[in-house]
Amino acid sequence: MQYQNTPSIQLLTPVITNQIAAGEVVERPSSVVKELLENSLDAQADILEIDIEQGGVGLIRVRDNGCGIRHTDLSLALSRHATSKITSIDDLERITSLGFRGEALASVASVSRLVLNSRFFEAEHGYSLRNDDNSVQPIAHPIGTTVEIRDLFYNVPARRKFLRTEKTEFGYVQETVKRLALSRFTVGFKLAHNHKVLIALKPALSSSQQLQRIATLCGTEMAEHLLSVETEIAGMQLSGWVTRPIHSRSQNDLQYFFLNGRVIRDKVITHAVREAYHDVLQTGRHPCFILYLHIDPAEVDVNVHPSKSEVRFAQSNWVHDFLTQSLKDVLARPVPTPAPFSSRPTLPPPSPPPIRPPARPAPQQVQETLTTYQVLKATLPPKTTVTEAPPPPLTPPPLGYAIAQIQQLYILAQNTEGLVVVDMHAAHERILYERLKTALFNHNLAVQTLLLPIQLTISETEAEILIDTLPALQQFGFTLIPHSATEFTIQQIPTLLADQACAQLIKDVIADLRRWESSQRVQERLLASLASQACHQAIRAGKTLTIAEMNQLLRDLEHTPRSEQCNHGRPTWVQWQLKDIAGWFSRHISP
Ligand SMILES: Nc1ncnc2c1ncn2[C@@H]1O[C@H](COP(=O)(O)OP(=O)(O)OP(=O)(O)O)[C@@H](O)[C@H]1O
Ligand SMILES: [Mg+2]
Repeated sequence: MQYQNTPSIQLLTPVITNQIAAGEVVERPSSVVKELLENSLDAQADILEIDIEQGGVGLIRVRDNGCGIRHTDLSLALSRHATSKITSIDDLERITSLGFRGEALASVASVSRLVLNSRFFEAEHGYSLRNDDNSVQPIAHPIGTTVEIRDLFYNVPARRKFLRTEKTEFGYVQETVKRLALSRFTVGFKLAHNHKVLIALKPALSSSQQLQRIATLCGTEMAEHLLSVETEIAGMQLSGWVTRPIHSRSQNDLQYFFLNGRVIRDKVITHAVREAYHDVLQTGRHPCFILYLHIDPAEVDVNVHPSKSEVRFAQSNWVHDFLTQSLKDVLARPVPTPAPFSSRPTLPPPSPPPIRPPARPAPQQVQETLTTYQVLKATLPPKTTVTEAPPPPLTPPPLGYAIAQIQQLYILAQNTEGLVVVDMHAAHERILYERLKTALFNHNLAVQTLLLPIQLTISETEAEILIDTLPALQQFGFTLIPHSATEFTIQQIPTLLADQACAQLIKDVIADLRRWESSQRVQERLLASLASQACHQAIRAGKTLTIAEMNQLLRDLEHTPRSEQCNHGRPTWVQWQLKDIAGWFSRHISP
């Protein structure tokens, strides 16, 4: 055997180790901006000014009015493993600052020409440190810090090669500023590119100022469709906004999640939100959200990746279920009415792990509900003329009273705001579906014993998970018998899923459990089956309804959760405001 090229082991110089480490923290100009802004926020600044030139490759300058840096600490700030934010490993368990690794400035300094100007809040004047000659000079500077970075990656051609156009890189910078601006409403932000100011945000303290900031950063359309979220349970607080399902997007680009004030990306969170929107969103569409979760810092590990945007939860199941349940509650709020809607819904405790539902659900009951509804429909007042005016209610119903049926498709109603048009099939479908769901989750599921049990062969690891899951599956009507370490037979299945590939479903559940530690798949299938029943049973286009039947539908709709959209995510009703109607006729109405 001929061995070639066998160099001996050598210690790398600090310059190279810094540059290698910088690769993880400083990917592109926007990552520098993120680190600098996070430092400013940690220094309690409430005014941040960001100047960018040439997409950040020419210049990145961040100015803040934070507490500043002691001049004796200045050069330490640029040293690796130097931080004022933690002193022991235990501190990592109670991290409340955005930074803690003591490496961001050192990394940035190793791949750029950097000037750090700072005046500590107790000092008479500021000091300036340059990384090219490590010189420190006294300077005039207001309290706070200015970091100026030029020629990013001038000494790492490999990195520079991977940078995109100036416009694209600036786009990333803008997105970074946007995320941080959404994370701290109390802070003012100003962002300029090539001397042109593109974002100027004053501190937003009141809720209307906050909505204004959201409109500026995410667009007025999103801001107009927000539902506010505010729940707390067992030390976990969730607040913020989600969009109503009828305002969805084709991309998941307007989704912001902040954990203890930190922008994070997390699969558990994305999954939990998707689940909350499960049966109210059209397939392939994405909701928008800006959510803030506060939990005990000891319950989360933020030291997962140098960029600090990934985390690990100690109890990811809890976080997942808390989020899903809280958002489901928000989305299930009935049709808004002026008075009752203002009372904040109380949050039921988060549902137990999804594959373990509280009660045994049941389709005899489901069938009963369907039948009951058929009977109910049949017993609605006959199609005689209804001249009787409804008794004057204390508060007018939100969806008003039916006036007419349009083209045997829509109900036209009049309410205090103007006119309401209801898609009768979509509305009825949602009403039925919600009733079926209630029945499903309150009663026992009908099961079907298979004449020919289904064979299931899986790996040993999968089998271990499956064994633990058997009781939960049993609750949903699945009976599985183990025959060996890897072989099972499915003996019983829920009747609702009789026509489905149950072996594959069980395998998918196991895959979910391995990945997410929880699975909603069985519930989703059951719900999908109910949804198609609801769709099938709902009033079809072409059916004539009496005024009384139409009013009954309106009342039912008002009391139905998630009633703004049908099971496929299409709206069930729209409101025409009086002022819009006045506008059709160029009429001016005084507000
Ligand atoms: N804008 C600033 N205002 C006041 N102090 C600052 C500022 N920027 C940096 N510092 C000081 O410099 C130190 C080093 O900053 P650096 O960003 O390198 O590390 P860190 O923030 O502690 O941790 P991380 O690497 O996770 O960001 C900080 O701990 C802080 O004391
Ligand atoms: Mg930092």
